[in-house]
Amino acid sequence: MKVLISAIFIVAAIAQQTQPIPTMPDGYAYGPATTNYTLDVFYDHVCTDSAAAYPALNAFWTSNQSWLRMVIHIYPLPYHYYSFDVGRAGRFIQLNYPAQFTNFMVWMFNHQSKYLDAAQAWDQSQLYNYLATDTQTATGVPFSLTENSLNNITYNYDLRISWKYATSHGITGTPQYMLNGIWIPAAADFTQEAQWEAFFGSLN
Ligand SMILES: *[C@@H]1O[C@H](CO)[C@@H](O)[C@H](O)[C@H]1NC(C)=O
Ligand SMILES: *[C@@H]1O[C@H](CO)[C@@H](O)[C@H](O)[C@H]1NC(C)=O
Ligand SMILES: *[C@@H]1O[C@H](CO)[C@@H](O)[C@H](O)[C@H]1NC(C)=O
Repeated sequence: MKVLISAIFIVAAIAQQTQPIPTMPDGYAYGPATTNYTLDVFYDHVCTDSAAAYPALNAFWTSNQSWLRMVIHIYPLPYHYYSFDVGRAGRFIQLNYPAQFTNFMVWMFNHQSKYLDAAQAWDQSQLYNYLATDTQTATGVPFSLTENSLNNITYNYDLRISWKYATSHGITGTPQYMLNGIWIPAAADFTQEAQWEAFFGSLN
């Protein structure tokens, strides 16, 4: 969803007087560590526009990974009821099983309706049960480890730090992107590899 976050969350963000400094770079990075082009990607696992945007970006990155560093950040949207819970599982995988993060993200993109619709009828223990089961299916990470992480406040705080990282850079929704630290609003609408080609082609 590309609409602006609600005023209450902006107020909440401003009310936090000190910006927590992440103890390591936020997100999960693909591609060269040293390059002239770093694309920061802000996705919500249950945002349908993020899911629709990923295949074209992935195709572009795959063809251009020799020079393009891509960093995917989790930005849970406040108006998706289970976005923060799915995001906590995602952050657990990002931090502890980074090589499995893409599998987790793609699985969630392909099964969004489960967490957008079916999940409305679940209680918290059912939610955690489904999340841990689906994370195991997507990544092979044992059920009990994801379940424990959902009950561990560490990942709750950590995802909040990711969220504040994004908002402090002016990110207001998903999918949104920064190139070399500069927000590129037009890219929020990209769903075709040719659009990424044209955008990067226009830089030279
Ligand atoms: C970055 O661009 C500069 C100027 O074109 C070039 O000299 C340098 O090799 C590039 N660095 C990388 C890592 O590609
Ligand atoms: C990205 O990769 C494709 C396929 O190799 C290539 O045709 C294209 O020129 C590359 N794009 C840029 C902007 O370098
Ligand atoms: C929560 O997770 C952190 C980071 O993995 C770990 O150090 C800590 O022991 C965990 N806490 C509990 C109660 O499992």
